[in-house]
Order: sequence, then structure tokens, then C-alpha cells
Amino acid sequence: AVMKNISGLKNMEKQLEEVLGVSKVVIVSGDSDQYATVKNEIGLACVREIERALGGVNIIAVTGGTTLAAVAEMMHPLRKAHQDLLFVSARGGLGERVENQANTICAKMAEKAEGRYHLLHVPDQLSDESYHSLMEEPSIHRVLQYVRRATIIVHGIGDAKTMAIRRHSGDELLQKVDTEHAVAEAFGYFFDQSGRVIHKVQTIGLQWEDLFGVRTVIAVAGGKSKAEAIQAYFKKGPSSVLVTDEGAAQEILKNF
Ligand code: G3H
Repeated sequence: AVMKNISGLKNMEKQLEEVLGVSKVVIVSGDSDQYATVKNEIGLACVREIERALGGVNIIAVTGGTTLAAVAEMMHPLRKAHQDLLFVSARGGLGERVENQANTICAKMAEKAEGRYHLLHVPDQLSDESYHSLMEEPSIHRVLQYVRRATIIVHGIGDAKTMAIRRHSGDELLQKVDTEHAVAEAFGYFFDQSGRVIHKVQTIGLQWEDLFGVRTVIAVAGGKSKAEAIQAYFKKGPSSVLVTDEGAAQEILKNF
């Protein structure tokens, strides 16, 4: 495929902002499904967006996944004078490889950015009983307060089925993904094509309502295979920032 030049990418960004109803779209060239290096470019572009969104006091909540791991990989010192930088995990431990867990990513980002961090030391999927008792743990409550008060939220978007399988979800969820036609996943929520939540993991981490209000939400997701997921997520998702790649952008814009 012929890769677009810079002005072509700028054009696509404007088109995608309109189509998705997102305030700002950043597109890096290439398709991360095809070349792993493109994911690092997405990571670097995301670091720049985080930098742009910084204020005096900064609480940056981060989720997990390979794309967020690339953001951590590309992170560099961010702190300027008078800037307080605190990174918090938005999710507990998932059925993911350790390098793709929110806690690992959060600690790595903070270290590279020269900030502080608070981790969420809980399993991601909880029974009613553990959910209520953990919510009363002061140390967990404290981290959750930071997540609620985050000034910047950075999260990935995944394909529903891919994520359900990768996280070793039970048969019940796998079936639900099929019967309810889930196409997107983000922070434990599963969405259908219209952006309706068809399933949510019982977690004490980031909740849907935390995404709205006075804060910057940066969604990071690329690759042609995520086109449908990105589109579905933004049907009802916050109109903040999307950092993506040409592979996903071209596929989304194909239908317009
Ligand atoms: O939470 C994880 C995201 O939904 C997608 O993960 O960045 O590895 O594709 P990924």
C-alpha cells in the first residue's frame, strides 16, 4: 500500500475527527498489525499528547495492554519545575502477561517520566463479597480516590473477542461476546457496534463515568484489525484524544 505523506495524514486526522466525533486525532504512518515498530510510534505520539495535557498538578491514570506498554517504553522525563507528576493504575491485575498489566506499565512510566506512582494491588475480576470488603480497605480506597480525580486518563481499545480470549475469560463471556455481537473492549467494558455496554467486568478500577468531566482522556489504539472496535467505542465514548495509525484510520474512513 502507498503510505500517505504528512499532509495526507493531517487530512485523514481531520476526517477521522469528524467521523468519530473526537476533538483531536493523531495518526502515525503505517499499520501496527503489520509492523511492530509502528506501535512504538503510536507510543511516542501518545507521550507527546500526555505532555501537552500536563498542568500544575497531574494525576495520570493508565490501563494495560500491549499498546500502553509501548507508551511506557517510549516515555521520557516529563517533569518541569512546579509540576507534580503522579501515575496511578486504573485497573487491577488481569489475566494478562505481566508486562501488559496496568501496574507494571504504571510503575515503568512513572520511573521513566521521573514521577511518583500508586499501584492497584487487587485482582481485576472480583466476587460481590470481595468487591465490597476490598472497597473498605484504606490503602485501596486511597488509590481509587486518585483514579477518580485523575487529570489525564490513558487507555487502550481492543477487539472484543481477542481480548476475551487473551484474558482467559470464561465460556459465559465468550458466548456473550458472540450472541450480543461485542466488537470492542476497553478497561473491562465490552461494547457492541452501537457503543452499548454488553458486559462489564466487576472491578474496583476505572469506571465508565470516570471518563467524563474536566479531564483529558487519551485513547491509544492502532492496526487495521481494530478499526471496528475504535469506531464502536467512540459511538458513546468521550470526545477527547485518539492516537492511532494509518492502518486503522484507512479502514475506518473506507466506509465514508
Ligand atoms: O486493555 C487492553 C486493550 O483493550 C487492548 O490491548 O493494546 O494489547 O491491543 P492491546
